[in-house]
Amino acid sequence: MTAGFEFILPTRIIFGSGASVNLSKEVMNLGHKKPMILTDKGLINAGVVAKITDSLDIADIEYTIFDKIEPNPRDSTVQSAYEAAIRCQCDMLVAIGGGSSMDTAKGVGVLMSHGGKINDYEGLDKVNRPICDLIAIPTTVGTGSEVTFWSVITDTARHFKMSVGSPFIAPKLALVDPDLVASLPPAMIAATGMDALTHAIEGYTCLLAEPITDACGIYAIKLIADNIRDAVYTDLKEAKANMLLGSLIAGICFGNSDIAGVHCMAEALGGLYDTPHGIANAIMLPYVMEYNYVANTEKFAEIAKAMGEKTNELSVRDAAYQSVEAVRKLNQDLGIPALKEIGTKEADLEELAQRASVNVSVPSNPRKVDKEAFKKIFIKAFTA
Ligand SMILES: [Fe+2]
Repeated sequence: MTAGFEFILPTRIIFGSGASVNLSKEVMNLGHKKPMILTDKGLINAGVVAKITDSLDIADIEYTIFDKIEPNPRDSTVQSAYEAAIRCQCDMLVAIGGGSSMDTAKGVGVLMSHGGKINDYEGLDKVNRPICDLIAIPTTVGTGSEVTFWSVITDTARHFKMSVGSPFIAPKLALVDPDLVASLPPAMIAATGMDALTHAIEGYTCLLAEPITDACGIYAIKLIADNIRDAVYTDLKEAKANMLLGSLIAGICFGNSDIAGVHCMAEALGGLYDTPHGIANAIMLPYVMEYNYVANTEKFAEIAKAMGEKTNELSVRDAAYQSVEAVRKLNQDLGIPALKEIGTKEADLEELAQRASVNVSVPSNPRKVDKEAFKKIFIKAFTA
């Protein structure tokens, strides 16, 4: 019998070409007068932000732009964005960008509605009432943060990526517009796309998975695997749009189940070396799958099938192992570097394993994992 479960999706989603142009209408519908846009300088220079804020200009809606968001956003950035929002008397937030912008905006929303420092809210359900309204407009194909209720922020004192989780921090609305990712650079699609694939695989296989997250997870795995190579290596707009959709559905999956060992290790790498999140996940994904597949061969066999592996003639165990091979081939095709090539030092592996082992998602990993197991996986990836 299926075990009982709870599924929450607090975010209204509008997906489609031109969806982001609805921003002014949606700000007015929510009854707000002065949004703060949280983004980064790259998106401003590329003209992406102007394309979206044009609708605010036409509607005569006053707004402020905070453009200092960095990859792996820090607690200090959340604090300065919050202070800017208070100074400018903003009444809502609009995040334009990847996970960094959206996660920072969630953190700012927490401070605007609850006060204190973002570090006070580390963990699950410390935020216990709604934050101010937040509209999320993703411009990468990886994070899914537009529909999740997690915000990952670097605690600068501890060099640690802490997680703040609560359904109350989810965006009110996600405007998911394929036009915004049509000219995304190939390297960015590869990195953020592998983050999305990791979300789908971990969301589908982790111990908190349930039937609705299973449906979303396996659908997202297939959609991403079918489209990621075309999205990186060709100009096919449909492939990029499908990646954006895959990332969104993967977000719905892991937002309700969890992430697992790959993210524990990737966040340790991000905290110590500032490694781009998607690259860190892509590097660790096949190694953690190789460790995990024995704990749920049926699901890993389904992953192999969804990724296009021929598994009909194989035993369930061998089919499950093919999912590891499928991800290895994908990493090769996308030119994902090895763990050694991103500046990892052998002397740091112990510390990385320690940091991975205290991640809030460790208990969700499909196979029991601890510091020693993380260390072995890091060593295997480092010596490959
Ligand atoms: Fe991620």
